[in-house]
Amino acid sequence: MDVWPEPLPPAPNQLKQRASAAEGLLCLLTDRIDAELLDASPSLKVIANYAVGCDNVDLAATAARNIPVGVTPDVLTEATADLTWALILAAARRLPEAQQAVKQGAWRTWEPAGWLGLELNNATLGIVGRGRIGGAVARRAQGFGMTIISTGSRDDPTALDQLLAQADVVTLHCPLTPATRYLIDASALDRMKRTAILVNTARGAIVDPGALKTALRSDAIAGAALDVTEPEPLPADHPLLQSPNLLVTPHIGSATHTARERMADLAVDNLLAGLAGEPLPHPAPDS
Ligand code: DGY
Repeated sequence: MDVWPEPLPPAPNQLKQRASAAEGLLCLLTDRIDAELLDASPSLKVIANYAVGCDNVDLAATAARNIPVGVTPDVLTEATADLTWALILAAARRLPEAQQAVKQGAWRTWEPAGWLGLELNNATLGIVGRGRIGGAVARRAQGFGMTIISTGSRDDPTALDQLLAQADVVTLHCPLTPATRYLIDASALDRMKRTAILVNTARGAIVDPGALKTALRSDAIAGAALDVTEPEPLPADHPLLQSPNLLVTPHIGSATHTARERMADLAVDNLLAGLAGEPLPHPAPDS
């Protein structure tokens, strides 16, 4: 067994070299598993991704080589929905700005028009992606008295346009695929209400960061909260971070003790099944 010992991910050539004799690979979403790596690892029998998303794995390349890919569904659904909800509340009620004001001594009195935000009760939540996490977010929204609208990948593209036009909060829960890369681009942001907020806990590249920066700076939308970014990690001097009304967290959707332990269990179950030549208990969709 070879365990990468560093806190930062291996560079592609380091991963290629270390995996060259491996029969099984338990990898993170920061590891790119592509045709070049697979060709350099001829003994590989299984890829066990320690994530439910698998856009880091070239599924066409693994399928062409009959290498099964496993993921970690279900066990991070509630944790990710909780974090989504924390971001929705924080962005709606402008918590980062409010806290900064307190720390900077700008809290002078109770102001009737100070730090006004969006009231979630009776507001409309637009959920992009009808999978497990989108569903768990919808359940939470019911408790807040929100109207829920959603679109899925099989919907007509005009459904997304309608959702963007109607929603007070747009939250993204679709996988990153060629079809969803930059799904939220300048024209999508333009369709949103000026009072609306955008939340992304799915994958950074679903949102065009340049377009989001422009939208935030021109007040085309009221705010955004991102747990995932493009690029990731987002460098501290990235221009997007200068945008007003933006909250960014470091991809912590599944970062609860419970979820991360259960993800490890599922990843190991996939790995052991693949090594034994058995069907994976949690295969990647379309793998
Ligand atoms: C996943 O599993 O895809 C998540 O993004 C990890 O938090």
